[in-house]
Amino acid sequence: MPWTHRSFGDATASILRRMRKVIVTGGAGYIGSHTVVELAAAGYTPILVDDLRNSQERAVEGLTTLLGRAPELHRIDCADQAALERVFAQGRIDGVIHFAAEKAVGESVAEPLKYYTNNIGSLTSLLAVMERHGVRKLVFSSSCTVYGQPEKLPVDENAPDHHPTSPYGFTKVVCEQLLRDVCVADPAFRAALLRYFNPIGAHPSAHIGELPLGVPNNLVPFVMQTAAGLRDQLVVHGDDYHTPDGSCVRDYIHVVDLAQAHVKALAMLDEANAPQCDAFNLGTGHGHSVMEVVRTSEEVIGRKLPYTIGPRRAGDVASVYADATKAHEVLGWIAQLGLRESLEDAWRWQQRLES
Ligand code: NAD
Ligand code: WQD
Repeated sequence: MPWTHRSFGDATASILRRMRKVIVTGGAGYIGSHTVVELAAAGYTPILVDDLRNSQERAVEGLTTLLGRAPELHRIDCADQAALERVFAQGRIDGVIHFAAEKAVGESVAEPLKYYTNNIGSLTSLLAVMERHGVRKLVFSSSCTVYGQPEKLPVDENAPDHHPTSPYGFTKVVCEQLLRDVCVADPAFRAALLRYFNPIGAHPSAHIGELPLGVPNNLVPFVMQTAAGLRDQLVVHGDDYHTPDGSCVRDYIHVVDLAQAHVKALAMLDEANAPQCDAFNLGTGHGHSVMEVVRTSEEVIGRKLPYTIGPRRAGDVASVYADATKAHEVLGWIAQLGLRESLEDAWRWQQRLES
């Protein structure tokens, strides 16, 4: 069996990892920035590739505080192969974590071309440059959206017939298939397809967190902005679903837990017996309804939230939560934080944003 960093003591492993440069596309974004922190904590050297189209300087400033130095950031479009070439040309790139993508489900229905162009184009561009530089390890941001409404809950990675309900979801299905095809063509290529459920929360330091542009589409940022007085009231999208309280059920995963799973996945790709290309659910395994999120947020914030019940939102599935057994068994990862901690960190971050 070839050696891995695990063959050595902790100090040696850390030194070896420090020489391991990991390119993090979308590293200034919400999940990417938290992953950069966890990579650095594990001893890797993260190199960020992000044109900041959906992030802000503030994220880079927060990272600088947390890392104790400015991160290496290349403000380039992943679709720009010539620019990517210059980043890879520095050599000794150990692997890539690819977050860069468009991610707004509703917008993808209105502007499908934008989604197919960036989400698939960024990946094909990246893979072409990786091939030229002999970099053959990729951790990919996929999504539970690939499952659509699963027949069986909790949903595991073998769920049949993936039917996403949006163009965004289809881009993730296509990217996953593209990576499987690349792995068939190149037996030395390894990929981990990480299917996130609903990432929420922020770094407990409140130096980094989610920075939604404009009116948030996602539940937790909207709840927090409502609590902060930036929105008049939350609209609960439907209370007539076949769920315990009629509102939709999701698996909310703390973004720091999620970030740590990426470090585990990267390490796993080094193992001699690692699967060549495999998908992993990253969730807590617990479903919470929208109304539970509202009630728990009220407890965390310490007062009632203004909300109203509205009609169902087009494209929403009633219920989805993860069977994350495989991530536990293969990656050695399990979510540590629950809904309350996630909401506490989200609220701390929202307050920092307002201060
Ligand atoms: P985000 O928008 O905060 O981060 C994505 C980052 O990528 C942004 O900083 C953006 O500026 C950058 N980017 C986008 N296209 C780029 C390009 N062509 N070149 C360079 N930079 C580019 O999003 P996030 O929430 O951190 O999501 C990261 C990944 O996780 C995405 O692939 C998303 O589809 C996936 N995902 C997100 C969620 C979620 O709810 N946040 C859930 C499942 C999967
Ligand atoms: C959660 C629940 C809403 C806002 C999305 C993507 C998914 C993945 C994660 C990327 C739903 C309800 C929301 C509001 C509400 N992203 N809601 N009022 O839709 O489960 O998942 O993010 O891959 O692909 O679809 O997350 O936070 O938008 O909604 O009642 O103002 O909250 O109807 O039931 P969703 P969300």
